[in-house]
Amino acid sequence: MFYTAPSILSSDFSHLGEEARVCAEAGADMLHIDVMDGHFVPNITLGAPVIKSLRKCSDLFFDVHLMISDPLRYIPDFIKAGADLISVHEESDGSTAEAVDMINNAGIKSCVALKPATPAETVFPYLDRLDAVLVMTVEPGFGGQSFMADMMPKVKKIRSEIIRRGLNVDIEVDGGITDKTVAEAAKAGANMFVAGSYFFGASDKVKAVALLKNAAEKAVR
Ligand code: DX5
Ligand code: ZN
Repeated sequence: MFYTAPSILSSDFSHLGEEARVCAEAGADMLHIDVMDGHFVPNITLGAPVIKSLRKCSDLFFDVHLMISDPLRYIPDFIKAGADLISVHEESDGSTAEAVDMINNAGIKSCVALKPATPAETVFPYLDRLDAVLVMTVEPGFGGQSFMADMMPKVKKIRSEIIRRGLNVDIEVDGGITDKTVAEAAKAGANMFVAGSYFFGASDKVKAVALLKNAAEKAVR
């Protein structure tokens, strides 16, 4: 199953509710929400209060990507705010295992995210307890960067391990995803596609979602 996740990082922050509606109407499966603290990454975006407000005007699945140094401290706030999935970076401070447990115990979906320099094997100890793995295909921090095709061996390695263990874990790719790059990611074994600038830059958003899905499906046929 393929999922498309527009990243609101590329949207107009003065109309977030409206932008979420645009995503839903375009047929997107979820909303990718990038939380940055200006410390783990050199950019600051939004926090739990904004997600809480957004929750009131959108029924979309909220895929919350935490790019923050101290996830253990803030995960409860994001759970309360209405996250449906939370991604924590393996490279952030504190125990990733503890963060995953915290998310799972709240009854929402858990995901571990890997920066480009972090090897595939790093996520293997958590794999049995995860709903998804997020492989960054750019350095986290900003939208509009170029897709790193050299991350595909990492996606393949993680997909092979998921299959070997007979698990049902999604692989999300984030950064530089377009109707062109999505094919390579799907071929490598990814099935959740974050698209920020591609989606919000498209004049026809229904078409953008359809193009992403069709290109992914065609690539694995
Ligand atoms: C980058 C963020 C991405 C970003 C993707 O740190 O995690 O979600 O919004 O933007 P594009 O699709 O423009 O690369
Ligand atoms: Zn992201």
